[in-house]
Amino acid sequence: MIVRVERFKVPDTVEEQSLRGDVFRRGVRLVNDSNAAVFGEGNQTVTAATSIVALRGTRAERAETIYAFAGDTLVGIATLFLPTAESTNVADTVLYVDPSVTGEARAEAFESLVQASVDCATEFERTTVFGGGEGVRDGDITATTGYGGVNRGDPESEAWLRRGATLSQVYRYGKLDLESLTDLDQRLADAELRSRGYRVITWGGETPDHYRADMRTLHERMSTDSPIGDLELEPERWSDERLAEFERYKMGSGRRMFAAAVQHEESGRLVGYTQLVIADDPSARQHNLIVLQEHRGHRLGELLKLAGIAQLRREVPYADRITTMNAEENRHMIRVNEAVGFEPVTWTVVWQLRLGS
Ligand SMILES: CC(C)(COP(=O)(O)OP(=O)(O)OC[C@H]1O[C@@H](n2cnc3c(N)ncnc32)[C@H](O)[C@@H]1OP(=O)(O)O)[C@@H](O)C(=O)NCCC(=O)NCCS
Repeated sequence: MIVRVERFKVPDTVEEQSLRGDVFRRGVRLVNDSNAAVFGEGNQTVTAATSIVALRGTRAERAETIYAFAGDTLVGIATLFLPTAESTNVADTVLYVDPSVTGEARAEAFESLVQASVDCATEFERTTVFGGGEGVRDGDITATTGYGGVNRGDPESEAWLRRGATLSQVYRYGKLDLESLTDLDQRLADAELRSRGYRVITWGGETPDHYRADMRTLHERMSTDSPIGDLELEPERWSDERLAEFERYKMGSGRRMFAAAVQHEESGRLVGYTQLVIADDPSARQHNLIVLQEHRGHRLGELLKLAGIAQLRREVPYADRITTMNAEENRHMIRVNEAVGFEPVTWTVVWQLRLGS
């Protein structure tokens, strides 16, 4: 198979009648086919409307999309996310190859997309590239964190390995079937009893004005407190504009976002939060969860999870599952998720390639 790669700009609208509009729509179908094969049917579904928002990027993160063709057939896509506020040496790639492309052709498609990603990263003067692949709990190669791995033969991983990348982290993709949580009210009441001195606050949509300063701090702490292995990522700084743009971005194209936070009653400050985002399909995604270090040990993480689920049930009756991604070494977060009922579906890896090394 001879693979040709080409970059296309994002169309102005999802219906735009142009070559780039056509390629974009074929790309959305390919991403859904690929995600269904990797994460399971109905998980990680994207729509044209949500994709166009994601591919436009934000002021904090530019996005570039590379398409791979065999003849006229679209066989794969690479999206590069290029942070512009901090970690400006990094290019974070996400690759998809049509699941019907197998064997050597699949390896070729990944090889071309990885090379095109490295070239694009170089063009934007990035010196570190993050790549992905299909991981396993225990594999032939173990991540430098000591948790999770990858098996030899995974074609995406092989393409990064050939270039000297190191396996920095493995993420567990987990799912909670909401139907299975039959005792939510009781569990939430128990969790509230255990967390004397804290109260749960929930809202939908943008963060209310009086919580914005606390939410900026919580986002900044997410970037320093979540385990990142040896990935070269700098602490994030969140201005009010960044928070507003992030929330608009998450809610772009009809998605809805819900937040659950815990307030420390004595100080009045928000000391932990989590968010759930959902589109028209029944699968909600968990975005972030943190409890500030000085408030850990009161099982507020579990309280936040349960409060978020209760809010989702109230506001979005068609929701049937929640999916989440956790670093496999993040035992504290995984323990909370398992206690609530999340089960692992699969694992994905993060390769780190230092260019020129
Ligand atoms: C995951 C998290 C919310 C759990 O916090 P929590 O709800 O307060 O945890 P628990 O109350 O269940 O804590 C149980 C014990 O583990 C300890 N613990 C919890 N998180 C810890 C951490 N990140 N590091 C060290 N110890 C931790 C608690 O202090 C407590 O210890 P104790 O029994 O001696 O009192 C918290 O670790 C956190 O905010 N981590 C950083 C953000 C993060 O990784 N988010 C997930 C990204 S996907």
